[in-house]
Amino acid sequence: MKRGLLAVNAFLNTEKFLSVYRFLQDAAARRKMKLDIVRTDALCTPFDVLPDGMGDVEFVIFWDKDVVAARRLELAGLRVFNSARTIGICDSKIETAMCLRGKVEMPSTIFAPKTFDTVGYADRAFVESAAKTLGMPMVVKEACGSFGWEVWLARTLEEANAVIDKMGAREFLMQKFVAESAGRDVRVNVVGGEVVSAMYRFNDNDFRSNITIGGKTEPYRLSAEQRRAALAASDAVGADFCGVDLLLGKDGPLVCEVNSNPNFKSSLDCTGVNMADNIIEYIEGRI
Ligand SMILES: Nc1ncnc2c1ncn2[C@@H]1O[C@H](COP(=O)(O)OP(=O)(O)O)[C@@H](O)[C@H]1O
Ligand SMILES: [Mg+2]
Repeated sequence: MKRGLLAVNAFLNTEKFLSVYRFLQDAAARRKMKLDIVRTDALCTPFDVLPDGMGDVEFVIFWDKDVVAARRLELAGLRVFNSARTIGICDSKIETAMCLRGKVEMPSTIFAPKTFDTVGYADRAFVESAAKTLGMPMVVKEACGSFGWEVWLARTLEEANAVIDKMGAREFLMQKFVAESAGRDVRVNVVGGEVVSAMYRFNDNDFRSNITIGGKTEPYRLSAEQRRAALAASDAVGADFCGVDLLLGKDGPLVCEVNSNPNFKSSLDCTGVNMADNIIEYIEGRI
């Protein structure tokens, strides 16, 4: 029996996460594979000492954004799905924008320069300049965020600055607001370079269509152009599996972000496709 590890964040214990782990473990069991959960805090040993019980591990499904923990498993010679590199690119929306540049269409994106907690952003000329380039309202996002929680729409410079004040020294970006897609986008799940499911997400009360914020879902039939965009994004970040968010631009799809560990429970509820099965079959074909 092939044995793999499911690496999960040590501190995220809500049902939202636990249910995805169960889907993956059940899918593995259906393929006669054993998938043992390892928490990221169990990986905190010196880099040249792997924790006990990992001798016969043939693969790791890494269901977290802890790039260091993923990398330490790769350094130990394990095949990690997704790779630490892919997780790092997807975790930062700034890295994603740089990686996808020239390969797919994205909303115009401007990064904020680095600052420090004790220093802040005393000079906001770069915000004013970005607002001029992108137009108002503009979207302000933390580089590393999830569930729409760290994404804001700033209607004025004052609103933008108020959001920026709250972010401390966390990295962020400013982005052109795709008004025609407000409250609507498409989540495309890709495994091994193939689309496995797609769902339309919409919210009449918020420009963010994330389900956690109240977005509703419907199964969705992708256009050829949307399919191409999602596959090109997945390929560019080197994903084994991912969830690509596509905005519905008036001139065609715009890639919003790529999730390296998409919460596929809502896609399953919406489309009936259990992405866990696709992921396990894909990995089986590669080990
Ligand atoms: N530039 C934009 N224009 C219009 N809507 C956007 C834009 N960026 C994000 N959104 C909306 O906000 C949601 C959350 O943004 P996203 O970048 O996917 O962050 P998260 O990682 O928190 O999901 C998107 O699903 C989309 O509905
Ligand atoms: Mg998203």
